[in-house]
Amino acid sequence: METVVSGIRPTGNLHLGNYFGAVKNFLKMQESYNCFFFIADYHSLTTHPHPDDLHGNVRQILSEYLACGLDPEKATIYIQSDLPEVAELTLLLNMNAYLGELERTTSFKEKARKQPNNVNAGLLTYPVLMASDILIHQAAKVPVGKDQEQHLEMTRKFANRFNRIYEIDYFTIPQPFSFDGSLIKIPGLDGTGKMGKSEGNGIFLADEPEAIRKKVMKAVTDSGPSVPNSPISEPIQNLFTIMEAVSKQEVLEQFKEDYAKCTIRYGDLKKKLAEDIIAFTTPIREKILAISKDKAYLRKVAAQGKEKAHQSAAKTIKEVREIIGFKPF
Ligand code: TYM
Repeated sequence: METVVSGIRPTGNLHLGNYFGAVKNFLKMQESYNCFFFIADYHSLTTHPHPDDLHGNVRQILSEYLACGLDPEKATIYIQSDLPEVAELTLLLNMNAYLGELERTTSFKEKARKQPNNVNAGLLTYPVLMASDILIHQAAKVPVGKDQEQHLEMTRKFANRFNRIYEIDYFTIPQPFSFDGSLIKIPGLDGTGKMGKSEGNGIFLADEPEAIRKKVMKAVTDSGPSVPNSPISEPIQNLFTIMEAVSKQEVLEQFKEDYAKCTIRYGDLKKKLAEDIIAFTTPIREKILAISKDKAYLRKVAAQGKEKAHQSAAKTIKEVREIIGFKPF
């Protein structure tokens, strides 16, 4: 059975981008793969969260994973910092990661621009930590959204390089994966760019219906098509992309037809989109509320995941240490 690894940073509640880019694939994969899904709390330290916020956010994501349908009996669900083997592998892989390639990573350049007063070494070596998450379990497939493509490419590079340096076909070379065929990007509601936790343009699974209505009604649009069959403008295509994820196919087709005929009414489009998002998120929101209160259950899931993840990680670390030449006397 092929191994699958993926994680999400605990930097805020899960939004529709996280769901459709990642979690939706997790749910399907847990049925037929050996899955490891974790909460990337080491990764979230690059922005120096307050300890109380960090703990609360980890609990929230764990509750959200479970509310979405991740099943601890089918997949190994754990917290990254419960696996110190990941930190050790990061240290080892850091020796084979070069400054130039790390500095050229798009996410590093973006973060360095966004937080110029905190360009820490963790930001630079972020792709190495991510590679360690994946390689520690010898993953073959990694379900992620489009924004993680370059990080996956670097993981493959680090794995290949390790195999070459030590002249051994050791690490499995992982592939990014999505059931949609290609990795997807759910756009934000602000007309451009992707939906993100820090971009302020997201719809969260835990949002109340009224909050969702407000956000969708405020979504950026334009003055509308004036010539029949004109190409769909970016802000409207963004709404269509979200609609494609949450609405029935025929609903989307109807709005597209109206757009082509210049009869589309953006108010109607937004109202329908908001109601379809609410219909999709409401059962999940209700489960999140219930599960997040059940501390004993969350503790049990985390402990069980830690134990199973540890078994897999310890095997890899033992083998890597031997390959490198750390041998007992
Ligand atoms: P993070 O926490 O930013 O996002 C978690 C997952 O959600 C996907 N995603 C999206 N997909 C489509 N459209 C969007 N607008 C959108 N926004 C987010 C991301 O692609 C990701 O799959 N570095 C990772 C976490 C990580 C990881 C790993 C992932 C750490 N180690 C190992 C896979 C394997 C991150 O910051 O994701």
